[in-house]
Amino acid sequence: MGEKITVSVIKADIGGFVGHGAVHPETLEYAQEALAAEKGRLLVDFSVSSVGDDINLVLTHRRGVNDPAVHQLAWETFRGCTGVAKRLKLYGAGQDLLADAFSGNIRGLGPGIAEMEFEERPSEPLVIFMADKTEPGAWNLPLYRIFADPFNTPGLVIDPKMHSGFTFEIHDLREDRLIRLNCPEEAYDLLAFIGTPGRFVVSAVYSRGLGEIAAVATTQRLNLIAGRYVGKDDPSMIIRCQSGLPAVGEVLEAFSTPHLVGGWMRGSFVGPLMPCAVEQAHPTRYDGPPRVIALGYQLAEGELVGPRDMFADVAFDEARRLANEIAGYIRRQGPFEPHRLPAEDMEYTTMPQIMARLADRFVPVQRPAAQQAGV
Ligand code: F6R
Ligand code: MG
Ligand code: MG
Repeated sequence: MGEKITVSVIKADIGGFVGHGAVHPETLEYAQEALAAEKGRLLVDFSVSSVGDDINLVLTHRRGVNDPAVHQLAWETFRGCTGVAKRLKLYGAGQDLLADAFSGNIRGLGPGIAEMEFEERPSEPLVIFMADKTEPGAWNLPLYRIFADPFNTPGLVIDPKMHSGFTFEIHDLREDRLIRLNCPEEAYDLLAFIGTPGRFVVSAVYSRGLGEIAAVATTQRLNLIAGRYVGKDDPSMIIRCQSGLPAVGEVLEAFSTPHLVGGWMRGSFVGPLMPCAVEQAHPTRYDGPPRVIALGYQLAEGELVGPRDMFADVAFDEARRLANEIAGYIRRQGPFEPHRLPAEDMEYTTMPQIMARLADRFVPVQRPAAQQAGV
């Protein structure tokens, strides 16, 4: 058994091309060069990707999670990308970098982060998911399907290493606390929480049979950090696959029915999460619909062999068609819930101003005397 490897996915929206739809190739080139200078030094390997207006840096290294030097490298890379974005006057340049200076850990500074440390197995297939125009809770439903639902993952029933189930770590974003729940026996408790994806978010999953980490997701909510709307926290996650963990096909299968997620236009609507190829991951219609890409890698002594574009498969055409149909249907509902998110989950709202302006126009409701007396 060798030295442990750490996989860190660090992502940020540092400016959109055009509007909030995509990243500019020059920003990706900058990131590529900045990270290449550290390959073989701080980093074992890296891979730069994008989904919609978000840049995702996939970094492998031997320094463990929460390593200040690795976090600083990602921070400086995003700062440099922001410089390019400002020169090109890209939209919202630097929007996710909330701090002026780096302070030892990138958590809480704006970018999203998911990282895990483990001993590389004889073969280590990883799928890294990256989404745009949605929120971290968007992973709740597919993670449940992958790690707790035998209708999606037959391995839970028929693979002896998976039969003892998985432990879910849930982050309560509002109270900033964690709870761990064991499946299958606590599945109903788990669902009671993660059915509220705007507040309870799956942050990690562990195999009980192998005693290994299986998945980790970004969980930050920018608006809760910044205290104001600064864009959606388009999430990413890393899933290890095969040999006692869900098969690659079981992991991807969870996205074959596009489920409804919060996000889309102005971070304030509900829409289907469309699984798509990297080259299709540029949301346009109503700034959406929300997109997810899946990048597959084999790790080889920490080298990222890949990526393979896992949703670039005709087998997901039907999911995309259905997502378009759902998008067309739900759009007709305009500014009404449940297409529009409930007021407390909206990222933009004029409600306080409208309420204040019209406060004098509200009058008490006149009720018959009997009703007022509560008879
Ligand atoms: C959603 C998103 C976009 C913007 C919208 C308005 O996460 O990023 O839908 O909210 O394009 O953007 P502003 O307010 O910057 O004009
Ligand atoms: Mg943006
Ligand atoms: Mg985005």
